[in-house]
Amino acid sequence: MMIVCHCQVVTETAVAEVVDAGARTLGQVCRTTGAGTDCGACVFTVKRLLTERQPTSAGGRVAPRGRRASDQAFAPTMSSASVA
Ligand code: FES
Repeated sequence: MMIVCHCQVVTETAVAEVVDAGARTLGQVCRTTGAGTDCGACVFTVKRLLTERQPTSAGGRVAPRGRRASDQAFAPTMSSASVA
């Protein structure tokens, strides 16, 4: 178990889990895990893990910088919880 963020004691596994759960931006990963919210030294490592971990279904293209709309996409949706 490798600790990525020593300030918040966030492990590589924790980062991988939030990426698997749908986090697609550095901000999402940091807000969810707490990594990068103190000294910031781990941010590049978190970014690398995010890049390595996230699916490449977009053909390897990088999302446009500065787009914040995808931040909302991480919010859990209730659509699948609707009762038929
Ligand atoms: S090591 Fe992650 S915020 Fe300091």
